[in-house]
Amino acid sequence: MLCLTLTASTLAENKALVEKNRSWIGAAELRLDHLDEDELKVASAFPSTVDLPLILTYRRASDGGLCTKNEKDRLQTLYEAAKGGWAYVDIEEDVKKSDLKCKDPLFEGRVDLEESLRARNIRIIRSYHDFEGVPEDLFGRVNRLAGKGDIPKVAVTPQSLLDVIMLFQVEEQLAHIKEKIIIGMGQLGIPTRILYKRLGSMLSFVSDNQAAPGHLGPREMSEVYHADRIDRNTHIYGVIGNPVYHTSSPKIHNRGFEAIRYNAVYVPFLVDSVRSFFKLAELLKIRGFSVTIPHKQAVVPYLGKTSREVKQIGSCNTVVRIQGMWKGINTDYYGFLTPIQDRIASGSIKSALVVGSGGASRAIVYALINHGVKVTILNRTVERARKLGDETMSGYDSLENAHLYQGSVDLVVQTTSVGMGELEGTNPIPSFAFTGKEIAYELIYRPEETAFLQAAKRAGCEPVFGKEMLIEQGKLQFEAFCGYHFPHWIPLDL
Ligand code: ATR
Repeated sequence: MLCLTLTASTLAENKALVEKNRSWIGAAELRLDHLDEDELKVASAFPSTVDLPLILTYRRASDGGLCTKNEKDRLQTLYEAAKGGWAYVDIEEDVKKSDLKCKDPLFEGRVDLEESLRARNIRIIRSYHDFEGVPEDLFGRVNRLAGKGDIPKVAVTPQSLLDVIMLFQVEEQLAHIKEKIIIGMGQLGIPTRILYKRLGSMLSFVSDNQAAPGHLGPREMSEVYHADRIDRNTHIYGVIGNPVYHTSSPKIHNRGFEAIRYNAVYVPFLVDSVRSFFKLAELLKIRGFSVTIPHKQAVVPYLGKTSREVKQIGSCNTVVRIQGMWKGINTDYYGFLTPIQDRIASGSIKSALVVGSGGASRAIVYALINHGVKVTILNRTVERARKLGDETMSGYDSLENAHLYQGSVDLVVQTTSVGMGELEGTNPIPSFAFTGKEIAYELIYRPEETAFLQAAKRAGCEPVFGKEMLIEQGKLQFEAFCGYHFPHWIPLDL
């Protein structure tokens, strides 16, 4: 189940958060350390207002929470709040036995917090946090936390993909512990949250406001990834990159899988080492994955088979597992051509200016020259443009000389990152005056209309938006992944 972490400062706001996200979650965790001081006194009443299993947690600052009270006071407050109808109470693994003795006017003397919970059939979640890494004795630690029949919760911070692999081995190593919560925090850990069932974890935490590093929103976890429906038979696909979480491809593929009722999920993997990822891919029996910056060339040596385009371009954006072997293809190549293929076939595009000479540009230059289009490559670093130009027998020049080509090309393709992020609003070839006859093809899809496209449109040119190529190459990937056509009837508002 998905468990919503509640970090509002009042009980009423937390209840409203549960109601807002009700259709996507199966449990919620009330974080006492985010509540106002006077709300703490009435927190025990919260479970009677919410119809979901609830976890009660009072997190110390040293474990990523906000509570700065001394241990005696913190556990006394937790004891008072725990008097309500909670399903679970979280108690950190290193709490001292003596600090668990709490005052209660109903009983003379002190009452042990844990014993009082067990007497009321409230399960204890025994938690361990590591914000710096993953302990070497991870498996032993989970075993020890489960020792007294409690539910072990281990939230650790992978520093590399090898740490992520260790987390995914938990289920195999610790299958005898039926109830456990295993979380990889931070960006590297996001696949462990989406694929929590593959770790044997009983739940995955979500929040509206990234209450912990790497939290996804309940709607995204539920509607994009269907994390609750992932089971032993779910086929895993993904995208590897660094960075990777900005990509829109999970929306394309997961919606496609859902529409054709294919039991599969497409997960973003932040990848620091391609070699490690292939190990993880074996472990998770990944069936195929997309490749984005900066790994498009780095994956090629790991492939057993490569398509003609990959051999020629030296860069691969799609890897599929076929009969136990990794095969690489390049759907950027065909995805780029699709929106303009009629014009190329009819001979109305004879010459093109390609701005940029990075990985994306390589696929495009090859796609164009293979179809008889004469290409000139412009780049900030002229040496890079020269290399690609020599390799493809194309012309090359600097960005500053863009104006020398105005009026003599049918197509201008913009492949650089100039126009997005910090460079939003910037046109990489401001000196180039469009005549209105060129097709202006932009690869950036966010923002939808870049300064480059605006300049072209002002001159009356036909624009091709980055979204078109993104979707076309994604559809081709989808076919390569699962053998079905992409369902044309689903809207793709990326
Ligand atoms: P991709 O695989 O998406 O093409 P890349 O290989 O990093 O990414 O290539 C990025 C392209 O954007 C390159 O052509 C790069 O020019 P350089 O070769 O001179 O680095 C271009 N680029 C990135 N930032 C730029 C900037 N601020 N001004 C001009 N060109 C830029």
